Amino acid sequence: ANTSKTVDERLLNICELLEANVSYYNWVGFYFRNGNKEELKLGPYVGTPTDHTIIPFGKGICGQVAVSNKNFVVPDVAAQDNYIACSITVKAEIVIPVFVNGENIGQIDIDSNTPDPFTEADERFLEFICAQVASIL
Ligand code: SME
Repeated sequence: ANTSKTVDERLLNICELLEANVSYYNWVGFYFRNGNKEELKLGPYVGTPTDHTIIPFGKGICGQVAVSNKNFVVPDVAAQDNYIACSITVKAEIVIPVFVNGENIGQIDIDSNTPDPFTEADERFLEFICAQVASIL
């Protein structure tokens, strides 16, 4: 029998490692394009369950990254008007796209309960994680 981990198990392990080891990573999850639809679907995550399991392209921080193909660092979520609140404890957010063969196929989304915690080091680190993720999809 093939007892190797599934892709979703590996993605969940990545979420667990990130949440457990970085004090200001408080919700860590993946969203992926939902088939050919112009929407994101929630994948493996760690943290408070969210009602936002489907996010239309363009909506919220995640939906904007689906369209822009760029990292989005939000130091203060209260200052964003196109923002989808998942938990009132969240102060900041970072979203980094996952590219497969140059195509934006999803993203890692991290919420922080700490105000303005993310630096360029987080961006470089999470870009590396996303490149590793792309290689196992
Ligand atoms: N805040 C996100 C929605 C996803 S939750 O953070 C898990 C957004 O504005 O797109």
